[in-house]
Amino acid sequence: MLVLSERRFAKGALSPRAVSNNRRPDREEGGHDPRVECAMTEDALQPTLDPQLAALQPGAAPRAGRSELYRDLLSRFPAGVTVVTAFDERGEPRGLTLIAFCGVSLEPPLVLVCVDRNSNTLPAIRHSGGFTVNFISSRSDHVARLMATKSADKFERIPWKAPGTAPGGPILDQDSTAHLVCKTVNEVLAGDHWVFLGEVLDGGAVEGAEPLVFHRREFRDLLDDGG
Ligand SMILES: Cc1cc2nc3c(=O)[nH]c(=O)nc-3n(C[C@H](O)[C@H](O)[C@H](O)COP(=O)(O)O)c2cc1C
Repeated sequence: MLVLSERRFAKGALSPRAVSNNRRPDREEGGHDPRVECAMTEDALQPTLDPQLAALQPGAAPRAGRSELYRDLLSRFPAGVTVVTAFDERGEPRGLTLIAFCGVSLEPPLVLVCVDRNSNTLPAIRHSGGFTVNFISSRSDHVARLMATKSADKFERIPWKAPGTAPGGPILDQDSTAHLVCKTVNEVLAGDHWVFLGEVLDGGAVEGAEPLVFHRREFRDLLDDGG
């Protein structure tokens, strides 16, 4: 039997319409709080995400509403923060803050990153045929903020070193918990981003460093208990 907690109800998981549309069991009959009982029916569960969920139905909402809902839903998924780097055709370092990173395969070792079509780092990743993924540490949110800008002198303001392996970009070993040097093996256009699949050629870790996390549109560390 599915029973939603009082706390969930109190936080507005069920709309008033959900309550009034459903049979209210007599308190004496069931011995339960009727507000909680009504959550057991499918009909009552449906409005849990309504009207927001409706915005994701094809053609049911203006695109602006869909984008905002998409952003809001994804913001509830905590993500590690990376800086993805590469060298451009002049040998200049480029990089951006990126949370769209994922491990893909163990054998061969593959990862993917999703890069905005308008990113200035994109041509560098293409030119060099690879990239480096730096997992940013909890003490280096300033680096994540800097790399999320369009500033031309990003790499003059932070320490970095070149990788020994050819296709990779700058390694931020003083601001990361680990890095992966990757060779691009495939790229696919997905909406407004390019998905790069990279084979991991090399890497390194910094023992004792804690990761930076992005959750609910804020940078946090794992020991942060601020919600
Ligand atoms: C927390 C955070 C996560 C981000 N994740 C991504 C991402 O996954 N992919 C992406 O293309 N841009 C992402 N961005 C935006 C880029 O970092 C931003 O557009 C940056 O200015 C691009 O720099 P560039 O044009 O020099 O490459 C993110 C920004 C922030 C603050």
